[in-house]
Amino acid sequence: MTPQEQVEAEAQAAREALALARTTAELDALEVEFFGKKGRFTGLLRLVGGLTAEERPAFGQTVNERKEELLAILGAHRAKLAAAERSVALAADSIDVTLPGTPVRAGALHPLTLQIREVKQALISMGYSSSEFVDVEDYYYNFQTLNYPPDHPAFDEQMSFYIDDRHLLRTQTTAFQAHVMERQKPPIRAATLGRCYRYEAVDATHSHTFHQVDILAVDEGLTLADLKGTFAHLARLLFGDVKVRFRPDFFPFVEPGVEVAIEWGDGWLELGGAGMVHPNILESMGIDSERYTGFAWGLGLDRITMSKYGIKDIRLLFENDERFLRQFGR
Ligand code: FA5
Repeated sequence: MTPQEQVEAEAQAAREALALARTTAELDALEVEFFGKKGRFTGLLRLVGGLTAEERPAFGQTVNERKEELLAILGAHRAKLAAAERSVALAADSIDVTLPGTPVRAGALHPLTLQIREVKQALISMGYSSSEFVDVEDYYYNFQTLNYPPDHPAFDEQMSFYIDDRHLLRTQTTAFQAHVMERQKPPIRAATLGRCYRYEAVDATHSHTFHQVDILAVDEGLTLADLKGTFAHLARLLFGDVKVRFRPDFFPFVEPGVEVAIEWGDGWLELGGAGMVHPNILESMGIDSERYTGFAWGLGLDRITMSKYGIKDIRLLFENDERFLRQFGR
């Protein structure tokens, strides 16, 4: 075989091998076999040594032409195989929409938040306006304006967290009364819901941090009967058709004072204190106590929440244990 014939023979061998290749990996191997540094086609250039100077250019040209032709075939074939391989890979990667997904758990409102919203909404529906006041309160509002005589034992009953000599974490939302009466003249129908703090031993029904709802109504002709009717109405809105109970109690800021409870389960659930606003307080706020009377209450929101949701320990409301909170998701 002449060198020219050898070139044609290798070219033909390469054409046939390329046509048979089924994967890009096979094409890669053929590229090395024929056109690599030690490849069969590359090796043909060594035949130049046996040719005359006149024969050499034509031979070189043939080798280059065949090489270009074969590399073009190889490139086109590779493009086709690569596209096919890509679509196979994509099909293997595609998402099966019928498989079950990874669940995303939605957050939910805390039971206290739900309860606070419900009580607030009920009071608004009864004509009360609801506002928030400060947690760090002046001693003046928390105790002094509420008719506590100096050295009153209630100071001990409501052991406090003092911030400095004058300021403390409010022990009762009743501290809002003087703020309201400073800003507003009768008729007054005001409510506030918020956090209170007391320095006391924590157990299943007592926490150092808890929530109260206070209301204050001041108008001409208000009596204890209005207080009873208003409380009974709220109790029905919150608990359905329940009995309410009023028993005498003492708070320095009311006269008379009562403890309010609802019939719940086998017994009575004490919700808080209430009474007719003490005339001393009205007078100290510049309200004529001969003309105006008022009533007020302060109820524990945590205990309302616990009764409504069947929660046995108040600490659960503040621990933020996800296993507990998850039960209230909707
Ligand atoms: C008061 O705080 C009065 N300010 C209520 C009041 C307002 C009376 C207006 C008259 C007129 P008392 O200390 O009883 O009262 O608290 C009222 C309610 O708050 C309690 O019945 C209870 O439900 C809740 N409470 C009090 N201390 C705690 C505590 N440490 N943990 C959880 N709830 C508490």
